Parts: sequence; C-alpha cells; structure tokens
Amino acid sequence: MTTALITGSTAGIGAAFARRLAADGHDLVLVARDTKRLREQATELHDRHGIEAEVLTADLAADDGIEAVAARLADRKNPVDLLVNNAGFGHKGRYLDVPTADELRMLKVHCEAVLRLTSAAAGAMRERGRGGVINVASVAAFVPRGTYGASKAWVVQFTQGAARDLAGSGVRLMALCPGFVRTEFHQRAGMGTDNIPGWMWLDADKLVAAALADLARGKSLSVPDPRYKVLLGATKLVPRGLLGGISSRAGRKYGPEHRTQR
Ligand SMILES: NC(=O)c1ccc[n+]([C@@H]2O[C@H](COP(=O)([O-])OP(=O)(O)OC[C@H]3O[C@@H](n4cnc5c(N)ncnc54)[C@H](OP(=O)(O)O)[C@@H]3O)[C@@H](O)[C@H]2O)c1
Repeated sequence: MTTALITGSTAGIGAAFARRLAADGHDLVLVARDTKRLREQATELHDRHGIEAEVLTADLAADDGIEAVAARLADRKNPVDLLVNNAGFGHKGRYLDVPTADELRMLKVHCEAVLRLTSAAAGAMRERGRGGVINVASVAAFVPRGTYGASKAWVVQFTQGAARDLAGSGVRLMALCPGFVRTEFHQRAGMGTDNIPGWMWLDADKLVAAALADLARGKSLSVPDPRYKVLLGATKLVPRGLLGGISSRAGRKYGPEHRTQR
C-alpha cells in the first residue's frame, strides 16, 4: 500500500487526484483549510474505496501550515510515496488592482510552499530510493500573465531543474500544466468565464489520468491535452507583445466596471 499527499484536495483538480488515487488503492493525506469538507471527503473516499484517508488542515499561506505539512512529508515512520502540490488560486484584477499583500500570499502558496513541501518530500524519498512529486503549474506559465503566470513559470522551472538534479535517485518530479478546467477556481477568484470558448475546457478526471500516465513515463513536464500542446507550440511563433494582449484578455472578465473600460 502506498500513500499520496494532496494539497488542495477538497475541490477541482485536487479532488480529481484524490478520487483517482483512492480508486487505485492508495491511502491518502488530504490537505486544505476547510476541516469539515476534508472530513467529509475522507469519509466518502474511505467508504467507497476502503482506503485510509488522513485529514490535515493547513493554510499554506501561513508558515505554521507549511511546517505542519512538511513535517508529515518528512515522517520516516509513515512515508509519503507521492506528493501532489496542487493548492492554488487566482486573483480578481490586473496588476496594481490587486493589493501587494494578496500577490505575496499567492507567491507564498504557489512558490514558497511548493519549494518547502517538495524539499521535505523529496529528501525522504531520496533516502528510500523512490517516490514522486507532481507540482501543479498551468499553461499560464508560458504566457505573460502577471504574478499568477510568473508564479507558475517558477513552478515549471524549479520542478524541471530539481528533476534533473535528482535523476537516477528514484525520485520523479513533474510539473503539470493544465489549461482551463471547470473547478471552483474562477468563481473563487470572481472571474467570469463566459469569454472562454467551450473547446478550451478540460475535464479534471481526464487531466489527472493523463498526468499520472506522464509521471509513470518519467516526464518532467506534462501538458496533458493535444489542444494545449498545439496552442503552446503556437505561442513560440507569436510575438511576445501580442501574446501578452491575448493572454491578459482570456478568462479575465472581472465585472461590469472592467467590461466598460475595454
Ligand atoms: N481551474 C483551472 O482552470 C486551472 C488551470 C491551470 C492551473 N490550475 C491550477 O490548479 C490548481 C488547483 O486549482 P483548481 O482549479 O482545482 O482550484 P479550486 O477548485 O478552487 O480548488 C482549490 C483547492 O485548494 C485549496 N486551497 C486554496 N488555498 C489554500 C491555502 N492557502 N492553503 C491550503 N489549501 C488551499 C482549496 O481548499 P480550501 O479553500 O479549503 O483551503 C481547494 O481544495 C491550482 O494550483 C491552480 O492554479 C487551475
């Protein structure tokens, strides 16, 4: 029996990872801020799949939250075989509309927590000579898109660099770059989604299946859908300025006052 720890397990992509890994027979450590929701999820996955599901309430925007999860990952007596650093969020507003404190909170969750949790997990995994880490980035990593895109670009660069450094150790690291997925993400950020064409939406369960297959193949970067592979190929041909314009419009409809400014 192996154990997977998933941050942001209660909704969206994290919940899809939890469903799939539980169905495959892995025990789980479920991490998010909402304890009630975590407990309900743990009970449901235990009852449905017969796996053990631990609940670990932690705010990854706070040092004590990061430390609690890092301590669990570093516990040699209860090893974690797969870490999915998935917790994340978007912001309502463009640069300078977003308070700097909120930008810093995003960097804490998307970058600092990912660094500290990856290090805690990978250190213990290297001693055992096996393990995997999936760091959920975004296709936004490849286009100019404010602090969100920059934080996800860091996730990609960090993960691929660490994967190279740990090659041959038995520890696999992979950055996962989804396109648009219907989750709670856009609603939580207060972003409208009606300007995103239907064909751009990905299914969370299919995304997770493709990601796990890519990890098993030893990839350090996963862009799970042919539509987005083509789009990312095209971004290399489009001038950076034009790309910034297109990217800043897609999926960033915030409300009436922004609509009238355009
Ligand atoms: N949806 C998309 O279109 C899309 C596209 C590309 C990449 N992504 C990335 O995919 C990841 C998951 O996003 P999603 O779309 O599944 O979002 P979601 O449906 O909003 O779920 C976010 C999850 O993260 C948890 N979370 C948020 N802030 C947290 C914090 N400070 N500490 C601990 N847990 C926290 C939430 O639970 P609590 O609120 O209870 O903490 C929830 O379980 C993110 O990293 C996101 O950037 C999403």
